[in-house]
Amino acid sequence: MFRQEDWVRKLEEVSTNMNKEFKTLDYKNEEGIGFLTFNRPDKLNALNADVIDELGEFCESVKNEKLIGLIVTGAGEKAFVAGADIQAMSGMNSSEASSFAGRGQKATLALENLPFPVIAAVNGFALGGGLEMALSCDFILASENAVFGLPEGSLGLIPGFGGTQRLAKVVGMNRAKELIYTGRMVKAEEAEDIGLSLSTHASKEELIQACVSIVKKSSKNSINAIAMAKDALNRGQSLSVEDGLKIEQKLFGEIFSSYDMKEGTTAFLEKRKPNFKGE
Ligand code: COA
Repeated sequence: MFRQEDWVRKLEEVSTNMNKEFKTLDYKNEEGIGFLTFNRPDKLNALNADVIDELGEFCESVKNEKLIGLIVTGAGEKAFVAGADIQAMSGMNSSEASSFAGRGQKATLALENLPFPVIAAVNGFALGGGLEMALSCDFILASENAVFGLPEGSLGLIPGFGGTQRLAKVVGMNRAKELIYTGRMVKAEEAEDIGLSLSTHASKEELIQACVSIVKKSSKNSINAIAMAKDALNRGQSLSVEDGLKIEQKLFGEIFSSYDMKEGTTAFLEKRKPNFKGE
């Protein structure tokens, strides 16, 4: 009998074949869970054009792996990502800046639409583009030293990688406006209070463990069902409830021709655990 666990093992073999070497990102696959690390610790993992382009390429190559989950974090103890690279931005003209924002936004969409759970493990500063990357993940977990903010106004800028659109969807329009207008930094405890992060963990190790535990728990369910639910949730965000419901109805119908739906319902009726295939 082919089981989802065997399938995950197979995926691990495939993913370790990801032959692209990145300069600014680290990637590893352990037991079907992807770990992506922004890796410019000497610049607090700030996002320059190389990071943005590599992130886009990474998403393109990882999306067919159908991981059971991807955990995104920053190298070192100090920062998830301290923002878009201010030095790189300082010399840009309007058209270069617009193109930089376009490339950054494309990368956030690629991250947001990966067909498996993607969790931001925010260790330290998640400022500007760093918070915008975290907001493009499905949700955020934080370490006790996490600090969130969109301080672009203090640089004479506005958020350019989705902050004006995604923050309000998570914390509400009023709080998003207050945070963007003032550039105020939010520490881990407040981030949890306002729903920006789901939980707070004492160390980076405990933070990663908490992310792994969520991914493992969700992988007991059908990976195919999770991918379809994520698709409905994401696509519905920018639609009216009526239009979102149409997407839900269409996917609900489609899932009835999946192996996992038949297996899940049959297993319930036969009073046994399902053996999902992820398809
Ligand atoms: N862009 C480019 N470089 C950055 C950066 C960014 N967003 N954030 C940090 N760095 C660099 C610093 O310039 C410094 O480089 P250097 O050692 O070559 O001088 C290095 O990372 C370490 O940062 P430093 O400022 O010395 O650390 P700190 O602990 O004193 O302060 C922060 C940490 C996060 C408070 C501070 O780095 C900061 O305010 N960064 C900018 C945050 C921001 O405005 N982000 C939004 C950008 S749109």
